[in-house]
Parts: sequence; C-alpha cells; structure tokens
Amino acid sequence: MNDTVVPKVEMRNISKSFPGVVANDCVDLKLRKGEVLALLGENGAGKSTLMNVLCGLYRPDRGEIYIDGKYAEIHSPRDAQKYGIGMVHQNFKLVDSMNVLENTILGLRDEPFVPDLKRVRSRLVDLASQYHLDVDPSASIWQLSVGEQQRVEILKLLYRNAEILILDEPTAVLTPQESHELNRVVHVMKQEGKSAIFITHKMEEVMEFSDHVMVLRKGRVVDETSTAETTPKELARMMVGREVLFQIEKKPMAPGKVALELSHIEALGDRGLPALKDISFRLHAGEILGIAGVAGNGQRELAEVVTGLRRSSKGKLQIDGKDMTNKSPLEIIRRGVAHIPQDRVSVGAAGDLSVASNLAMKQYRSRPLAAGIFLLQNKILDFARTLIEKFRISTPSPKTQVKFLSGGNIQKTILAREIGAARTLMIAVYPSRGLDVGATETVRRQLVSQRDAGLGVLFFSEDLDELLQISDRVAVLFEGKMMGVFDTNTVNIDHIGMLMAGMDREAGA
Ligand SMILES: Nc1ncnc2c1ncn2[C@@H]1O[C@H](COP(=O)(O)OP(=O)(O)OP(=O)(O)O)[C@@H](O)[C@H]1O
Ligand SMILES: [Mg+2]
Repeated sequence: MNDTVVPKVEMRNISKSFPGVVANDCVDLKLRKGEVLALLGENGAGKSTLMNVLCGLYRPDRGEIYIDGKYAEIHSPRDAQKYGIGMVHQNFKLVDSMNVLENTILGLRDEPFVPDLKRVRSRLVDLASQYHLDVDPSASIWQLSVGEQQRVEILKLLYRNAEILILDEPTAVLTPQESHELNRVVHVMKQEGKSAIFITHKMEEVMEFSDHVMVLRKGRVVDETSTAETTPKELARMMVGREVLFQIEKKPMAPGKVALELSHIEALGDRGLPALKDISFRLHAGEILGIAGVAGNGQRELAEVVTGLRRSSKGKLQIDGKDMTNKSPLEIIRRGVAHIPQDRVSVGAAGDLSVASNLAMKQYRSRPLAAGIFLLQNKILDFARTLIEKFRISTPSPKTQVKFLSGGNIQKTILAREIGAARTLMIAVYPSRGLDVGATETVRRQLVSQRDAGLGVLFFSEDLDELLQISDRVAVLFEGKMMGVFDTNTVNIDHIGMLMAGMDREAGA
C-alpha cells in the first residue's frame, strides 16, 4: 500500500470514555479511497464506539478526524453526512409504519418541504439497479425481512451520496445468501471509488470482503495488516489474545426419555400464510437436535410454537411427557423450557433495567433469589457477578443498564440468563450470532454441557459446520417442512445443503 497517498479518512489519536470504561484509547485509523477496511475485535472492544465517533454520534474526548487530508469538524451525523460519511448501525432503526420511499427522505434537509416523490422514486430505482439492491420502494418497512430492511438502510446512504460507508455487523442478521449479495454490493461500491469500513465477527467474511484489517482489543489497536497477508486463525488469535479452538470435545450421547415431541404441528406466519407444515419429531433428554435451513423457512415460527409465543393451528406439542399444545409462555417456562430468541434486542432484554435484573429475571420467583415477595438485592448481585464472570460479560458493574452494553454483551447477558434457567429444554435460535470467536466457543461448550447434564437442546443455526459439530442429529427445514432427520456421525454434508435448497438427492442433479 502506497503510504504517500492521502487517505480518504484518517482518525488520529481518538479516545472516548464512558463511566467506568475506556471504550477507545488513542486509536489511529486510516482508510484509503476504494478500499474496504475490516474492523475486528471482541465484544466490547470499542468497534461501534469508534464508528459512532466517525459518524458524528459521539464526541471523542480527544483526537481528530481528517477527510481527504483536511481537518474535519464532525459534531453531528449531519456534519458527517456533509463529508460523505454514512453508517448502517448494528441495531438499525427504520420507521416501521412508513414505506421505503418515505424512510429514504426522512431527515433530509435539502429536500423541498413537499418532496417530489416521483423524482425520489426514480432515483431510488436507479440506485437499486446500479447496486443490485432489490427492494420495492412502496413496501412498508414492517413488511420487509431484516435483509431487505438492511438494503433500505444502504440505499438511504447511497441516496445521500455517501462516499464512506460504515457497516456495523451487517451480516450478523443476514442469511448466507444475503451475505453474498451484500458482498456484491460492496464490490460495486468499490468500483465506484467508494470506501467502506466493515465490522464483523466472521473470519471468512474478513477474507472475502476486505483489503485491510484492523484489530481492536480493550479499546486499543493491537494489529493492522493487509488481508492478503493474514489467515482466519491468526486474526482470531489477535482478537482474543490466545489460540482459539475451533473444535469441541463431545462425549457420545446418552439419550434419556423424550423431552419434546411434536406431532403434525401446523402454524401460520405473521403474514397469515402457512409457516409450519405437518412437523413431527422427537427430541430426547441428553440430545442436541440441530435445525438446519436458510433463515425464513420456519425456524422462528417453530421456536415460537415450542415456547408458547405462537399458536399452532393443528397438531400436538408435548414437553417432558405432558401435553403443552398452545399453552402460555409462562406455563411453558414453568416446565423448565428456556429460549434464546432470534430477535434479542427487542424481545430478549430489558434495556432500561440493570444487567443484574436482566440476569435474575427468570429466577425472581424462586429461592434463593427471593424471600417471599422481597427480593434479596445482595443475593441478586452475587448471582449476577457469578454469571458475568462465567460468560465474560464486559460491563462496568452489575448495576449498569443493559442498554449501555455493547451488542455482543447484551447478547451474552440473555444467553447467561436462559442457560441458567433451563431445566428440561433449551431452545437456542442462532445463539452465536453477533458473538466474537471466544464467546462463540463458550456458547457451543455450554450447549454441549447442557446436553451432558440431561437437557434436550433444540439448536438452530445457519452455519452447517457448527451444526454438524455440536448436534447429535440434524433436521432440515425448508419452506416450513421437515426434510428429514439425520445422524450427524453419518450424514453427508452435501445432501444437507441440497435439502436446505429444497432439492432432494435424486431431484437435485
Ligand atoms: N452509550 C454508552 N454508554 C456507556 N457505555 C457505553 C456506551 N456505548 C458503549 N459503551 C461501552 O463501551 C465499550 C465498547 O463498546 P462498543 O459498543 O464500542 O463495543 P463493540 O466492539 O462494538 O462490541 P460488540 O462486538 O459487542 O458490538 C463497552 O464496554 C460498552 O459497554
Ligand atoms: Mg458493536
């Protein structure tokens, strides 16, 4: 890389603290024109904070930003926009009730008071085709999948002529197919001379998307390299500061009685269409049943039916030998079922409550955390401290409100709570999404040790390697149907891949 070229973006000596944490500590960052920089680091390393500084959401305590070699005054997202900087946030927020068009122009000051929607639409359609970002401008946001919403976020930035795109864990919520599409979008942007900073925890994506890599640990830059000169293994070590084992030891399973049984279950999805079609299977205590499939093929609905969050229209659900068909979530929790939901930020955690309260939420009503109606504050804090340590949740204190934690640490909080609450069944939907490599390893271990402790684990993942490594048996969901259940010791991975795409072995040629 030629260092005499003026970088597109230069952040110099950036420091930013929050009460109890130094989130960024004298960070220098350079991004060249037409380049993709991958920003890596453990959960809580300070990646989102650094990018929030660049996009004008946070004021740094110290440090400067230069764009095209000139000092840039960035005090608000609007300032950042003037410099061509745009960010798609980790938990992005579009206005649900509005459509794509309206969201695009929302907050644009130089649009006329009554915007010429026709003009906006035609420009959007042009951009969408130029960048292969397929969305219907008149669709309301609530009708769109997460992947489609993300395309809208990106289109919104392109509409504002962003030259520097910041994508904060864009693929954490995407299916593998959607990730490939995003990669294509990023490629087109590069060809147009745009630059991007890309935050991810997935090493393959770093290799695939980026030209350069920068690794943060505890707010400081620990390493920087060109992507071509590194390997996923080396990157993982840089992030965590130790060797990461991508293998997990597993004893042979010792299946017990049937923990969960579904017989001919049917259910409708949010849009009123059949989402689960004649699903039947058994999961034993002491077993992990993996559910493979591209997201959106009934996974969410299946998890919701089992946890009482969605009604089944037909069929029977038994938990631990008892008929629990269409029982309430509370009744199901009382049977010892824990749930790591797909949508963790809005469903899983109470942001205004402390880490300790969130961790103890499911134990409130039982001893030793409660004495009658009086909650024992100290007991709750001790309980929380144990889990914080066990799951390495990075938080200034157990009393910190959850909304102040980094994305991955919010997730660890929910995981810790649910894993602690499970007695008969664990329903884990994409539990390692958004987690760094070290935390992913911990979660996989926890699932295996729950199985060894005699729980039935229903484990949803899009990562086939992970699924086959952790699960004892694996089932494939496609368009709401179960495409067969296989023993992971003998299954052929290509066959699973074909079933995920809706092809059977014979028909799939
Ligand atoms: N608004 C805030 N108030 C208080 N603390 C904050 C705030 N934003 C971030 N922090 C803290 O700063 C540290 C860095 O957080 P940041 O969100 O930048 O991490 P991250 O690298 O993006 O992690 P993740 O991979 O989990 O998203 C964390 O300890 C977090 O709790
Ligand atoms: Mg983050």
